[in-house]
Amino acid sequence: MSATPNDTAVQPFVSHPIRLTLNGRQRELNVLPWTTLLDLLREQLDLVGSKKGCDHGQCGACTVLRDGKRVNACLTLAVMCDGAELTTIEGLADGDVLHPMQQAFIKHDAFQCGYCTPGQICSAVGLANEGRARDTAQIQELMSGNLCRCGAYSNIRDAIEAVVLGDPQ
Ligand code: FES
Ligand code: FES
Repeated sequence: MSATPNDTAVQPFVSHPIRLTLNGRQRELNVLPWTTLLDLLREQLDLVGSKKGCDHGQCGACTVLRDGKRVNACLTLAVMCDGAELTTIEGLADGDVLHPMQQAFIKHDAFQCGYCTPGQICSAVGLANEGRARDTAQIQELMSGNLCRCGAYSNIRDAIEAVVLGDPQ
């Protein structure tokens, strides 16, 4: 039997419906199967706080929280977030009241250019949620996936320490 035109026609790419809670708001979206969470946030939803640094899971600039756990949005397909609760840097504050980790970053001057900062803060909140860091060395180790090209590491560490271990002042 010979092929009909329909057999050989290129099929259009199919987008997938997903539902998620994003920064406290329920969303129903259609995403292409290869769309990363980072591109969904930045390109489709205009949430540009999460940054694209390397796009390869190596810098942490894109870190967001999925069900309270930190993930690299550049390595997470949007379709994998169906049913998830997502929090980005835009959703951390409670209205005008900054999240304690955001306040600590300001208090400890834990940024210079600020490009890595949203990922650092989301990662630090995830670290606090994990409850595994007991001292400075563990904080440094568990934050090692978040790079800062400005080298603001000591102040970032101080800010996270203040929240996770308690501010000595
Ligand atoms: S942009 Fe995702 S880890 Fe660098
Ligand atoms: S503050 Fe500039 S990259 Fe971290």
